[in-house]
Amino acid sequence: MRILIPAEVRPGEHRVAMVPSVVRKFTQIGFDVAVQSGAGRHAFASDQEYLDAGAEIVSDESMADALATADVVASVRGLDYARASRLKKGAVAVSFLAAVADADTVRGLRDAGATGLSFDFLPRISRAQSMDALTSQALVTGYRAALVAADRLPSFFPLFMTAAGTIQPAKVLVLGAGVAGLQAIATAKRLGAKVSAYDVRPASADEVKSMGATFITLDLEALEGSGGYAREMTEERANQQRDLLTPHITAADVVITTAAVPGRTAPVLVTRAMVETMKPGSVVVDLASETGGNVEGSVSGEVIQIGEVSVWGAKDVASEMPVHASQLYAMNVLNLIALAVKDGEIVVDLEDEVLDGCAIVCNGEIRNEFAREAVQGGA
Ligand SMILES: NC(=O)c1ccc[n+]([C@@H]2O[C@H](COP(=O)([O-])OP(=O)(O)OC[C@H]3O[C@@H](n4cnc5c(N)ncnc54)[C@H](O)[C@@H]3O)[C@@H](O)[C@H]2O)c1
Repeated sequence: MRILIPAEVRPGEHRVAMVPSVVRKFTQIGFDVAVQSGAGRHAFASDQEYLDAGAEIVSDESMADALATADVVASVRGLDYARASRLKKGAVAVSFLAAVADADTVRGLRDAGATGLSFDFLPRISRAQSMDALTSQALVTGYRAALVAADRLPSFFPLFMTAAGTIQPAKVLVLGAGVAGLQAIATAKRLGAKVSAYDVRPASADEVKSMGATFITLDLEALEGSGGYAREMTEERANQQRDLLTPHITAADVVITTAAVPGRTAPVLVTRAMVETMKPGSVVVDLASETGGNVEGSVSGEVIQIGEVSVWGAKDVASEMPVHASQLYAMNVLNLIALAVKDGEIVVDLEDEVLDGCAIVCNGEIRNEFAREAVQGGA
């Protein structure tokens, strides 16, 4: 069995799907590992380190052949059409792959008769935790969010009792206490801030409290949906939530927003008017910026000013810590692919709940309804 790691081509993508320390683990389960020259460059993994770990380095000129002969191709982002359509029949491509936004990849996999396993659709069950790349990368983004806020805030995070007087700790409010939110809470706590958090899922309250933060309870119905995810809000509930959250926003020095509803545009939790109630110099970090934004007016990849408050819009945040983001991602790939290895061959067994969930294309057949519609719409 041969696994190929192509270089990522999307601008701003600095992660890589394989790191040298994981090459040997693939060798142990029966793979020859091939890595495109320079693929690990942005994650500080050199061709020599991959070679030392037992991988083969593939030159750019040899990539067409390498794609056509690989049994598995692992990348962070979906392959573009040209590369996906070159795969051999029955080959498995594993990456993040959105059903609609990545229609070109899906079309390529269909045309090649290949299989596409997407981390975006991996069932979030305990057996799949070691394969859960959404979780591993959310951990990186949550950690970064707290560091960005601490860096941009013109005052301290921790309490300081000095001979020159006492400095009160920063008040950090985290909206959305999923994987990224909890990591933002943990990191802000470690930096010494006074942290509070809100989430529409009551189940998150114990997790927030276990990190030493205060859970904000609003007099509103809970929005627990299926699979432990949130449900979408009605506009009326959204308005009520914003009204009830406003005093908490006003009191905060830092607001970090991480709220998402699967398959939907991110809900607007904080309006421009709410930001305007914050003290001058306060900082807002909107991790949901790339999917519409939790903060009205936030722009992905930019810092905007609302009055004297700076609003940082997230873009490719996990790529800002490419070393550990790639290491965790490579382990997620290993654990997912190991599930599909049977007696030295790749078998994507759709009877397995995990493989069934994430195989959005199987041997050229598009299995995801939204992906099918998106592909038909384009060609
Ligand atoms: N393998 C597993 O068992 C596994 C792995 C990861 C996550 N999970 C669970 O999945 C759930 C969601 O995790 P996630 O981080 O991927 O979520 P997510 O990225 O989809 O959303 C982030 C958070 O935003 C919250 N949110 C949505 N709308 C909101 C609103 N209007 N106001 C405030 N908050 C709002 C959600 O409840 C969620 O906690 C959690 O229960 C988590 O524990 C399970």
